Amino acid sequence: MADLNGLRERAKEIREEILKNAEQLVDSKAAYEVRKDFLDSKKGKIGALMKEMRDVPKEQKAEYGQTVNELKQWALSKFEEIDKHIKAKELQLRYESEKIDVTRPAVKMKPAHLHPVTQVREELIDVFASMGFKVYEGKEIETDYYNFTALNTPADHPARDMQDTFYLTPEFLLRTQTSSGQIHVMEAEKPPIKILSPGRVFRSDDDATHSPMFHQMEGLVVDEKITLSDLKGMLDMFVKKIYGDSTVTRLRPSYFPFTEPSVEVDISCFSCGGKGCSLCKGTGWIEVLGAGIVNRKVLENCGIDPDKYSGLAFGIGLERIAMLKYGINNIKLLFESDLDVLNQIGDQE
Ligand code: PHE
Repeated sequence: MADLNGLRERAKEIREEILKNAEQLVDSKAAYEVRKDFLDSKKGKIGALMKEMRDVPKEQKAEYGQTVNELKQWALSKFEEIDKHIKAKELQLRYESEKIDVTRPAVKMKPAHLHPVTQVREELIDVFASMGFKVYEGKEIETDYYNFTALNTPADHPARDMQDTFYLTPEFLLRTQTSSGQIHVMEAEKPPIKILSPGRVFRSDDDATHSPMFHQMEGLVVDEKITLSDLKGMLDMFVKKIYGDSTVTRLRPSYFPFTEPSVEVDISCFSCGGKGCSLCKGTGWIEVLGAGIVNRKVLENCGIDPDKYSGLAFGIGLERIAMLKYGINNIKLLFESDLDVLNQIGDQE
């Protein structure tokens, strides 16, 4: 039989139970369930006390009702408190998990950069453009005449063996050298001529320092009284710009059918300064290009009077320049398009 004393006992227990729960509750969903346990109008423990009212002796009913009501009010405000506390905690946890550390260093974005061979190409064009050279882009598919015959290399000339040629037909071929552009320019223009002709060339050659396709940059100057000193002066300027002011050039006698005299151009080793190291194979010098004074026969082939005019020509291998500049020992690294490799070579801007 329900009475006031029993109720007081129950109310005490319920308060203790709620306080104990309050310490343990950590999320609002669980708090809602526990709240229902006590305050649900049908199944809640406090609601059950109200239902027992009918068994309470008449004279105790008023106080009984008031006591249950007080308990209910207390529980309501307690759960409100619990709820507030849990919500604040949850919000704090959320803030912590979503926290952005504005002082953390940003991940560095790598801007794209030009391929090392393109960088060298543009650098050379800049250097020679400052000396007044114009760019002429030649053709990659050439006739035998432009690639060889007009360059004083007729059929069965032994110099044809110097370059293993990809023939497309007996007449057409993939140019083996940008020198073919010299003929096109000299046929189309009369001196003074000052052109630079960059482009792809092709040879059946494949090892650590040779690739079947590579890039050359041809230079051609035709005017009155052009001499070997002009050639040396221009090349000196070019190597100083690319490899540093202390670099000097050396001309060594060589042979090309389309130049006479012909030279091989060496630069003082930029790695050891000329003392001798592994890069220059102990010689102090590094070969960088072929050049010479345009052969009279070549001028004649293009209708230019060799008694009035003379010319100088040079051919630079761009991969070779890039390999030396960036310290690469295998030409394939420049063609494999491996970004991990390319990102380490060249100027990264
Ligand atoms: N065409 C030559 C070569 O490919 C280089 C060269 C160009 C030499 C111009 C002399 C003058 O080897």
